[in-house]
Amino acid sequence: MPMQTLCVLGGGGFIGHHLVSLLAARGYRVRVPARRREDAKALLVLPGVEVIETDIHDETCLRELLGGVDAAVNLVGILHETARGDADTPKARRGSFRQAHVELPRKVVAACRECGVPRLLHMSALGADPTSASAYQRSKAEGEAVVLGAAQAGLAVTVFRPSVVFGPGDSFLALFADLLKLAPVVPLAGAHARFQPVYVGDVARAFADALERPETFGQAYNLCGPRVYSLAELVRLTAQTLGMTRLVLPLGDGASYLFARVMELKPGAKIMTRDNYHAMRTDNVCPQGFPALFGAPTPLESVIGYLREDDPRRQYCAFRARAGR
Ligand SMILES: NC(=O)c1ccc[n+]([C@@H]2O[C@H](COP(=O)([O-])OP(=O)(O)OC[C@H]3O[C@@H](n4cnc5c(N)ncnc54)[C@H](OP(=O)(O)O)[C@@H]3O)[C@@H](O)[C@H]2O)c1
Repeated sequence: MPMQTLCVLGGGGFIGHHLVSLLAARGYRVRVPARRREDAKALLVLPGVEVIETDIHDETCLRELLGGVDAAVNLVGILHETARGDADTPKARRGSFRQAHVELPRKVVAACRECGVPRLLHMSALGADPTSASAYQRSKAEGEAVVLGAAQAGLAVTVFRPSVVFGPGDSFLALFADLLKLAPVVPLAGAHARFQPVYVGDVARAFADALERPETFGQAYNLCGPRVYSLAELVRLTAQTLGMTRLVLPLGDGASYLFARVMELKPGAKIMTRDNYHAMRTDNVCPQGFPALFGAPTPLESVIGYLREDDPRRQYCAFRARAGR
């Protein structure tokens, strides 16, 4: 029997919005848990989508959420810790890499087993590596191992590892678009770091296509776009797209580390941390490119216009930013 009802954890985020929209368009009924229902209200207008305010870290809530679904998708992830993973308070535990990338996947796997959910798609990240100097990448590797381990126990799992993801609502190129407005000279930490950015629509399609394809069971897929760019090239391309003339000033290794340290101490939204610095020291690329079974990847240059203020898709980003997304 074809799948009908899905649950997308982290469905209220950037990639989640695109994936849930695609799943709704394909006729699935989709449950989306949110910490605050208000934050995911843009999803409520989609046919068949239900947003449920709940605590996904609570095993009872998680079982209620996954009861009767045909597949679970876990997109939950954080790029910056809001609390130390070793501090033992509920708030600290929820804002740590360990909680988001390891403990939650463990709970999701257990809840799938208990509720008889046969299928699980899991979001990891390119560069996930148990030996990485970055705690983000180590925790992503540990989470993957938990999920792929469940394949031995009969759960049909698929893991995805994208490079940096771009598209309307992203916080990567949009961050540079905002920074470029501040000054004509842009000092850039990690300027030589290499990425192979992948379009959010392609990532969403890979997830949606994989759902009912048995050849993807037990597999892990790297997701990359068609081209490799240095960070400096991405910033210059962003400036060019916005019609700005900017001098990008690459910072050396020591200055990049210092910049990351200073940014960590800055109050407000995190721009960069030392953990990001460590992650950027390894190329975030996949020479084999985008997996052919999910179609062809979209070139960055063909869609980057979404960054312009007058692009209607930018209104969506502004809406998300105002909602604190
Ligand atoms: N964007 C990229 O370039 C990129 C690249 C590689 C991998 N990834 C991975 O892709 C996934 C989605 O990324 P994204 O860019 O869509 O991120 P996002 O916009 O920040 O969305 C993350 C989602 O996870 C949820 N979440 C985070 N921490 C949580 C916690 N402690 N408890 C409950 N929910 C929590 C958020 O819930 P609320 O809705 O309640 O805030 C949100 O829905 C993540 O796993 C990320 O590591 C992203």
